[in-house]
Amino acid sequence: MKTPTDRSTRRRFLAGVAGFTAASAAGARAGGAENLPPNVPAWTRQLGDGVGLRAYGNPSKYEKEVIRRTVPWLTATPESSVSFTPLHALDGIITPNGLCFERHHGGVAEIDPDDYRLMLHGLVEKPLIFTLDDLKRLPRVNKIYFLECAANSGMEWRGAQLNGCQYTHGMVHCVQYTGVSLKVLLAQAGVKANAKWIMAEGGDAAAMNRSIPIEKALDDCMVAYRMNGEMLRPEQGYPARLVVPGWEGNVWVKWLRRLKVGDQPWFTREETAKYTDLLENGRARQFTFVMDAKSVITSPSPQAPLKQKGFNVISGLAWSGRGRVKHVDISLDGGRNWRTARIDGPVFDKACVRFYSELDWNGEPLLLQSRAMDETGYVQPGKDALRKIRGVNSIYHNNGIQTWAVKPNGEVENVEVG
Ligand code: MTE
Ligand code: CO
Repeated sequence: MKTPTDRSTRRRFLAGVAGFTAASAAGARAGGAENLPPNVPAWTRQLGDGVGLRAYGNPSKYEKEVIRRTVPWLTATPESSVSFTPLHALDGIITPNGLCFERHHGGVAEIDPDDYRLMLHGLVEKPLIFTLDDLKRLPRVNKIYFLECAANSGMEWRGAQLNGCQYTHGMVHCVQYTGVSLKVLLAQAGVKANAKWIMAEGGDAAAMNRSIPIEKALDDCMVAYRMNGEMLRPEQGYPARLVVPGWEGNVWVKWLRRLKVGDQPWFTREETAKYTDLLENGRARQFTFVMDAKSVITSPSPQAPLKQKGFNVISGLAWSGRGRVKHVDISLDGGRNWRTARIDGPVFDKACVRFYSELDWNGEPLLLQSRAMDETGYVQPGKDALRKIRGVNSIYHNNGIQTWAVKPNGEVENVEVG
């Protein structure tokens, strides 16, 4: 196997892909030959639906498998549960709104926007209550950020378990948020000099709440009401959520109801009983907010096997809570040799980047891995290196390198290498 680097290989690559398309189309379609060249296909011989039938558009019916999925045995109730982003079926860096994974502790709150209020109080000069319209009249910003649940890959601490990047890595999404900087709201209320922490609380049945250091609140946090241009979806916190760039998803409080400024953390359930990392020596790390650099090959992967020998595209996502992703490496042999992946598309601070590597596959088994490095120089660790520091008692913050075993028939399996 090799990657097309020089110009002649590139030409061969393009020629190979054209031949491959014709061959696979002919091979895969037993019954639909009447739609193939030189015939005029069915969809050209008749008028299509008129406009207006799709007041809110949906994907093609041929894409009906591209959906969020759940793992039924994972949680006791659907109200406190998670669905996973179908990463294997997506490309680019933006997650479509209807496919962003959902994680709720008390179900989806259905909030009437007219009754929505955001309360800001505690160690401030002037406590305030904002309506949604108040938030929309304040200076507006647009930012693209990833959100990763701290529990993403949490089932893999003791070994490879779930067969598909949707399940191993699908508690991440990346969208453009529109809203107001939290520092603007805090400035309106006037933060007192002894303020050190801020507590964010949701208006859902879980009233989920977290403590956030005031420095982060005054840095890049936002109260967002739009994602990818339209209003937040109910499951993403309609009508407003907290955006805490680069930090674990749990602190991105949805259905945001209250912000309280204080001089110490609140030690809520979500920062004591949950979202701490139990180490080998019995001590636990607490307030481990930042999501370290991580990456995954989304295709090929167990749900997106290789269909053909010859030219194929390896594609994946990388992100870092510490800043921009600087570099992504790919290995075809379980980490013995590495090559530089090609990042394509925009590279934003604390956002996903898309990477590719072209592959000329002769059918031999592969052990595919990707490894992200961010602008601080931090390099995504192997799983063994991570376990040396963290042990295997953790649930959260597993950013170890993922391995996919590609078999000669193109099937892909979740494995671990030494
Ligand atoms: N906010 C409230 N109010 N209630 C919740 O249950 N879940 C948190 C966070 N904010 C939660 C919440 C967790 S654990 C995560 S990972 C993210 O929301 C998930 O955001 P998403 O559903 O938009 O993907
Ligand atoms: Co979470």
